[in-house]
Amino acid sequence: MIARKKIEDPNKKVKKTTTPKNKEIKKVAKSKEKTSKSKKAPKLLRGMKDIQPKHGYLWQKLYKTAEGIADAYGFSFVETPILEEASLFVRSIGKGTDVVDKEMYIFEDRDGAKVCLRPEGTAAFARAYVNHGMLSMPQPVKAWYYGPMFRHDRPQAGRYRQFHQFSCESLGVRNPVVDAELISVAYNFLKDLGVETQVRMNSIGSLEDRQRYIIELVGYLRSKRSQLSEVSKTRLTKNPLRILDSKDEGDIAVIEDAPQILDWLSEDSKKYFMEVLEYLDDASIPYSLDYTLVRGLDYYTDTVFELFAENSDGQQSAICGGGRYDMLVEQIGGQPTPGCGFSIGLERVLLSIHNNAEVEGLAMTQKKPTIFFAQLGEQARKRTLTLIEELRKKGIIVGHSLGKTALKAQLEMANEYLTTHTVILGQKELQDGTIIIRDMESGIQEIIDQKKLGNALQKIIDSQNK
Ligand code: HAM
Repeated sequence: MIARKKIEDPNKKVKKTTTPKNKEIKKVAKSKEKTSKSKKAPKLLRGMKDIQPKHGYLWQKLYKTAEGIADAYGFSFVETPILEEASLFVRSIGKGTDVVDKEMYIFEDRDGAKVCLRPEGTAAFARAYVNHGMLSMPQPVKAWYYGPMFRHDRPQAGRYRQFHQFSCESLGVRNPVVDAELISVAYNFLKDLGVETQVRMNSIGSLEDRQRYIIELVGYLRSKRSQLSEVSKTRLTKNPLRILDSKDEGDIAVIEDAPQILDWLSEDSKKYFMEVLEYLDDASIPYSLDYTLVRGLDYYTDTVFELFAENSDGQQSAICGGGRYDMLVEQIGGQPTPGCGFSIGLERVLLSIHNNAEVEGLAMTQKKPTIFFAQLGEQARKRTLTLIEELRKKGIIVGHSLGKTALKAQLEMANEYLTTHTVILGQKELQDGTIIIRDMESGIQEIIDQKKLGNALQKIIDSQNK
């Protein structure tokens, strides 16, 4: 049955009159306002960020894209605690690194245990691998995780004290194809989000290769000591490899003529690295070699890589870092187990896509329901809650604004949803078990039996999806 009908809004505003009772209410409201103004709202901590509703969809999109690609490549979702024993990271990331020496959120808990907020997840997953005997599972164990990491660094654009990573790890197999697979997942995850990256590749060889190389490097750098920056001078004894990725102009000039690690690799490491590069060639993943790439964490051996993208200021920053860590599991007390993985910094992903029209568009195209449910009156609102849950169980999602009572305000909300049809439940419909479906474009209204609502809406949705 199709009919045109004027809907009575039981909440229609009536002319306001000021009564003594109203005056009293206003007085109370004013005094409440005064006390709330005198209290200062707590501030967001430095280097931390809130994800606000306006960015919620984009964050969900990041998560879903990560989930989609990790599933497709056979990685299982895992989660480790945010709080870990501090010694886990000291042993794996290593003393002398910035993360361990300066950046960990480290404290004693109420039992006096030295704990820290995880600065990264690789060591934590390696711990879980050992704790749960994952060595007895079919290898490699491929895992992905997603969540906040904490580093008390100096905050700046793209560098926060709490940031989020999407990571994939593959433990138990040493094969160049594993390294290439991980790089491919990282590269294509970013590509799916419209972020074009450059892959930078290097190999830092085995521990022995590196020790031999460091002796050579330190010898060279000592001969140029006076030209080095103060930071690099201290790193000369603490962590000389890190001098290679210094951003200081004087250091860069010295590094240009420094011995290169690739010349110090054993035959095995050289062959391994060449094979990784061949797999990347076969997969058409563009990369460049960067002999200054050493990574800031100590657990790496052989392949190391970083993916760079331009951020919205046109500046380059590493959006992803990773590599092979064949000694890590042993270092934290497990059986010798090879491993490889990457982590992508999600705030940096967002900085890169900020000016990217395609992804900006994506933020706007959040799939919102095309059907809106409006209710009129207290009783109808109560029934609405049941009806929208019944519809949800049938897979039909409707927009609604239960907090708004006036029909006009609800229809304004419906406009934000790009609504094609509005379902309206008023007092009268409630009494006679009917409900109205209004076509928002033509204005034509159909009154149907409430029991037939699910089918009627499904028909509308089906015709829209054709
Ligand atoms: P990472 O290079 O320390 O590696 O961090 C990976 C990524 O996390 C960086 O490329 C960057 O995008 C992001 N990131 C790091 N620090 C910050 C920060 N303070 N603010 C914002 N973003 C940041 C790791 O964490 C290793 N666990 C990677 C890995 C996994 N290696 C093997 N498996």
